[in-house]
Amino acid sequence: MTKTHRIAVIPGDGIGKETVPEGLRVLDAAARRFGFDLALTHYDWSCETYEKTGKMMPDDGIDQLRDSESVFLGAVGWPGVPDHISLWGLLIPIRRQFDQYVSLRPCKLLPGSKTPLANRTPAEIDFYVVRENTEGEYSSVGGRMFPGTEREFVSQQSILTRIGTDRIIKYAFELAMKRPRKKLTSATKSNGITFTMPYWDERFAEMGKSYPEVTTDQFHIDILCAHFVQHPDWFDVVVGSNLFGDILSDLGPAVAGSIGIAASANINPEKNHPSMFEPVHGSAPDIAGKFICNPIGQIWSGAMMLDHLGEPEAAKAITTAIEKLLAEGGPRTRDMGGQAGTEDVGRAIAEAVAAS
Ligand code: NAI
Ligand code: MG
Repeated sequence: MTKTHRIAVIPGDGIGKETVPEGLRVLDAAARRFGFDLALTHYDWSCETYEKTGKMMPDDGIDQLRDSESVFLGAVGWPGVPDHISLWGLLIPIRRQFDQYVSLRPCKLLPGSKTPLANRTPAEIDFYVVRENTEGEYSSVGGRMFPGTEREFVSQQSILTRIGTDRIIKYAFELAMKRPRKKLTSATKSNGITFTMPYWDERFAEMGKSYPEVTTDQFHIDILCAHFVQHPDWFDVVVGSNLFGDILSDLGPAVAGSIGIAASANINPEKNHPSMFEPVHGSAPDIAGKFICNPIGQIWSGAMMLDHLGEPEAAKAITTAIEKLLAEGGPRTRDMGGQAGTEDVGRAIAEAVAAS
């Protein structure tokens, strides 16, 4: 019997409505070529929904998504609706309630994509940032006392649990094991943050004992940021706490070039809940409606989704098709110096996947 994957599709706002159809076009080509089915359920949740109903998604929205294996998302946010409403009304509840504790971003220079770093070639920028996405510095433990007086103070605690620390570090080691270089770098700051970060280092060293084949190193976050710019070729997989991972997961894709190609995943590795796959970019109101945006970030997110669903060959066929298209001068959108429309790029990649 053919395997069926259940996917919830949320195009969202702006160019999300243009990139998601191209992502689906390529996923469909991959499903045919590699012999599995996709059962798609479409949701129109967006800022438009908010303007009509006062809610980004219905009250039982999370329950509606619960039966899907994955959520395939475009972008959320539109002028007129404050960003904290669109973010906290849709994206954050999905990430939190489905315990998507891994935020994963590939940082890979694609052929023909312009990196802001001088003289770097695709072979030199190819790594992953793994960010802890549920605890750490972004906790809600803390408060303000004696407001408005001389004694006023504020505090916010960093919370590192053993469960939360070990599971993200383990995920990063497992990912490193799947890569040819098998190298893992830890982001720390144990010289300045003297309780939580030494604990992070301790758990990193402890977990490393179970992965003798993985080469490890660690850097303080400040110099690590400098190394991302000066020596991107040093990195294979990089793991960080919520705050450090947040910083690195914007910096990493930025050194790898255009925002239009950057992909990301929010993963619950145990598959107790759906995971979510989305491009790094937002709804791009400045170019929305013209079908000139780059669909590659969305299509690449689709490849990450197939990997998670246990279809690694199909995932590889998509990333290979993207790289070939760019290396061989196929259609490209304006942000990559071309003239092609969003659909031209989607079609070309889908055809290459079908023929792979
Ligand atoms: P943005 O990523 O939407 O756009 C930034 C710039 O990059 C714009 O000039 C845009 O035209 C360009 N750009 C983005 N994606 C592109 C693509 N695929 N092809 C070609 N050019 C592309 O970020 P911005 O403008 O800060 O945010 C717009 C809205 O999107 C806001 O409401 C924001 O909250 C939301 N947003 C949502 C995200 C999500 O859904 N995860 C992530 C980032 C922003
Ligand atoms: Mg960020």
